[in-house]
Amino acid sequence: MTVLNEAMNDSPILVLGGTGKTGKRVARQLTERGFTPLVASRSGERRFDWQDRNTWAPAVAGAGAAYLVDSQGENAAALMAEFAEVAVKAGVRRLVLLSARAWEQAGDEAGFAVERAVRDSGAGWTVLRPTWFAQNFSEEAFLRDPVVSGEVRLPTGEGLEPFIDAEDIAASAVAALVEDGHDGATYALSGPRVMTFGDCVREIAEATGRDIRYVPVSPQEYVELVVDRGADRGYAEFAAGLLADVASGSGDYLSDGVQRLTGREPRDFSQYVKDTAGSGVWQG
Ligand SMILES: NC(=O)c1ccc[n+]([C@@H]2O[C@H](COP(=O)([O-])OP(=O)(O)OC[C@H]3O[C@@H](n4cnc5c(N)ncnc54)[C@H](OP(=O)(O)O)[C@@H]3O)[C@@H](O)[C@H]2O)c1
Repeated sequence: MTVLNEAMNDSPILVLGGTGKTGKRVARQLTERGFTPLVASRSGERRFDWQDRNTWAPAVAGAGAAYLVDSQGENAAALMAEFAEVAVKAGVRRLVLLSARAWEQAGDEAGFAVERAVRDSGAGWTVLRPTWFAQNFSEEAFLRDPVVSGEVRLPTGEGLEPFIDAEDIAASAVAALVEDGHDGATYALSGPRVMTFGDCVREIAEATGRDIRYVPVSPQEYVELVVDRGADRGYAEFAAGLLADVASGSGDYLSDGVQRLTGREPRDFSQYVKDTAGSGVWQG
């Protein structure tokens, strides 16, 4: 059984990526539970830039724990190791890393290296490995824009994935940050139901009353589509690879990390769609 950690009670909690899809929810839920988040990013209240080491020590000053969203570039593991050292020196005692279940499915060494940097930091650590976020459909242009246009072309075939609500990732992260019993643990987090991208698009179409079609394409077609939209080829190939992993069925299983961390069931995709449809984000 977990108990509220007294030691964490009086120290603010640093939230890297604190303006992003998960970080802003971690910050909000920490506040709702009576803790003080320090929202850190290039545009956050605490300026933090992975590419500017001068911002690291001021950002972490005074924090007792930290939620970590990595820099997502080629040198992400090296930067994470360096930052963790700065954080531990500054008195941070607990680190909670946002990783990805996709790395475990694909055996991705770069993803594991970021996790290792946190495990080797000397602080208490928890690693969270979530599946694809539901909020990609509303908060990431690469999916939201096609939904708004009425045609979603993706190389995801009929692959099944248990989309997770970012609210549940945040609730899991907050539990790991402020409760005892999660140090040294790695949790895979998923939603409660496997669905195809076509199923997701159909639910959004029904909730918005719009005609939105899902069109499976090949990874090669997807790369050309994304390059035509103005992205660089390297990014397009990376994105096509991740999406093609979904088509392969590698994500077709549920994980119980949300239940173990929060003591409740994760939210269903249909609840996310219901809550989001009213915001007008899918109306164009
Ligand atoms: N999307 C998915 O389906 C999915 C699934 C599993 C795992 N993940 C993992 O989730 C992570 C992304 O987390 P997220 O979706 O919560 O974030 P996000 O929505 O992508 O936002 C990125 C955050 O990082 C900040 N940021 C960007 N560049 C930065 C820099 N140079 N220095 C400091 N901060 C910077 C941004 O704020 P500023 O712009 O203000 O700096 C923002 O707060 C990735 O590691 C990804 O692998 C994603």
